Formats: sequence, C-alpha cells, structure tokens
Amino acid sequence: MRIAVYPGSFDPLTNGHLDLIRRATRLFDRVFISVLENEGKSPLFTVAERVELIARCTADVPGVEVHSFSGLLVDFMQRMRATVVIRGIRAVSDYEYELQMALMNRELHPGMETIFMLPAVEYTYVSSRVVKEVFRLGGDVARLVPPLVLESLKARLPVTVG
Ligand code: PNS
Repeated sequence: MRIAVYPGSFDPLTNGHLDLIRRATRLFDRVFISVLENEGKSPLFTVAERVELIARCTADVPGVEVHSFSGLLVDFMQRMRATVVIRGIRAVSDYEYELQMALMNRELHPGMETIFMLPAVEYTYVSSRVVKEVFRLGGDVARLVPPLVLESLKARLPVTVG
C-alpha cells in the first residue's frame, strides 16, 4: 500500500491544493491530507473547521483521508506508516523553504522522501494568504477556492472595501 502525506496549514483549502490532491491520488493508494495544529499562526479557521471543509471538498476523491497532527511531521508519518511527503511547488520562490523542510525531514528520518508536485498552471499564483487578503478587500476569489470554502469565507470574514 503506497501512502503519502500531504501536510499543510490549509487555511483555507484552495483550488490549487485540490488540484494537487487529485494528482497525488493518481500516484498513491492513500493520500492523508494532514492539517498542522499550529495555533501560533492565528488562523482564520480552526483545525476542526479546516479538517471538515477539506473532508467535504474531497468527498468525491477516492483514497483521501483527512487528519490533523501536532509535533514533528516525521513522527506523525511514522505513526501513520507513511514514508512519502507531498508538497506543492508553485514558483522558484517556494523552493528554498521547501528544500530546507525536505532536507530537515530527511535528517530526522532518513527513510522519508519528499515529492514536489506542480499544480495546474492556472493556480500557480494562488495561496491561502492571497485568497484571504483579496476576499477581505472585496475581490472575487470564486475561481480560486471550492464553493464550500467561498461560503465559509463569506460567513467568517467581513469584507472591507476601501
Ligand atoms: O502550508 P504550510 O504552512 O506551508 O505547511 C507547513 C508544514 C505544516 C508542512 C510544516 O510547518 C510542518 O511540517 N510542520 C510540522 C513541524 C515539523 O515537522 N517541522 C520540521 C520540518 S522543518
């Protein structure tokens, strides 16, 4: 059984994440989307809300499970019997941070492999941070997030149009 973990903050899930999830499920039997419990980042959605949103948005994607984790990713992966980490790379600017994490994870657990995947080109500029900022300022993000996430943003964030 080939198991991959796709870890992240997912605050919130974007269509770029969803695109990567669909691609990863073609390569692995199981893809565990794993939401980091990191309250230090003052997220917009709680971990439980993010887990539920991701689960609902991926209900039609076979092989996906949604989890949350705290502590080291490599420890969580060992508990889940996973040896592959999936991370998305959008632009060269992502690479430095991703390289550092991948090498640190390998240092901590030499059996761990990180696979970098490219999202569809139309999502290469999409990030959770940009989606929140544009939505907050009244911009249209309907093409960039799943409909359920858009609804949740509307319910959560006041729009301030300058
Ligand atoms: O979506 P993000 O915020 O870029 O995801 C970052 C994440 C969750 C993959 C990373 O912060 C992580 O794995 N944190 C767990 C702590 C850990 O294992 N750190 C060592 C690797 S540098």
